Amino acid sequence: MPSREPRESTPGHDPDAPGIDPDAFRRAMARMPTAVTVVTAIGAEGPSGLTANAVLSLSLDPPLMLACLDRGSRTLRAVEHAGRFGVNVLAAGQAEVARSFGTKVEMHEKWEGIAWAERDGTPALEGSIVWVACELRDVLAGGDHVIVTGALLDVVASDGDPLVFYRGSYMGLGEAP
Ligand SMILES: Cc1cc2nc3c(=O)[nH]c(=O)nc-3n(C[C@H](O)[C@H](O)[C@H](O)COP(=O)(O)O)c2cc1C
Repeated sequence: MPSREPRESTPGHDPDAPGIDPDAFRRAMARMPTAVTVVTAIGAEGPSGLTANAVLSLSLDPPLMLACLDRGSRTLRAVEHAGRFGVNVLAAGQAEVARSFGTKVEMHEKWEGIAWAERDGTPALEGSIVWVACELRDVLAGGDHVIVTGALLDVVASDGDPLVFYRGSYMGLGEAP
């Protein structure tokens, strides 16, 4: 049965376990290049979105995506309100979009100057190289984040150089096919 209530996936695990320096952890993981997405949803107050690199395809059969969203993020509230979310994989030329959606500015400010359309009840950003719409399935506990899973409603992919986040900087792959 699908669950919307966050649940602990590792019962008994002590999140305050000693010995791990959070900055060292962050610096180490910054060496892992990732794609950059904007996760979107239509919330009670309109479109919401955040920059996210903790996003993956989860399953092919059935087709599922996952995204890790900060418990305190406004976009998580919008995703839960809508019961759906969009994943927009950004193109190399969209670093400014990533910067803007990665901040806590007023939500309506993030959307100023952004060309988008509502598709399958989720905001699709113009210029993204992949757009996926999902119906919210699970909201699972993951420390200070939650893991949302979603069943695919639609997917659109186009050619283009993806935006990559590596060691704190945005870059393109340039020579990728
Ligand atoms: C490159 C990059 C990757 C990020 N990845 C994530 C992520 O995977 N999950 C997340 O919740 N926040 C992530 N953030 C932070 C959010 O984009 C940011 O805190 C956002 O303002 C919070 O959401 P809200 O504006 O909906 O409240 C990332 C930020 C950057 C710049």
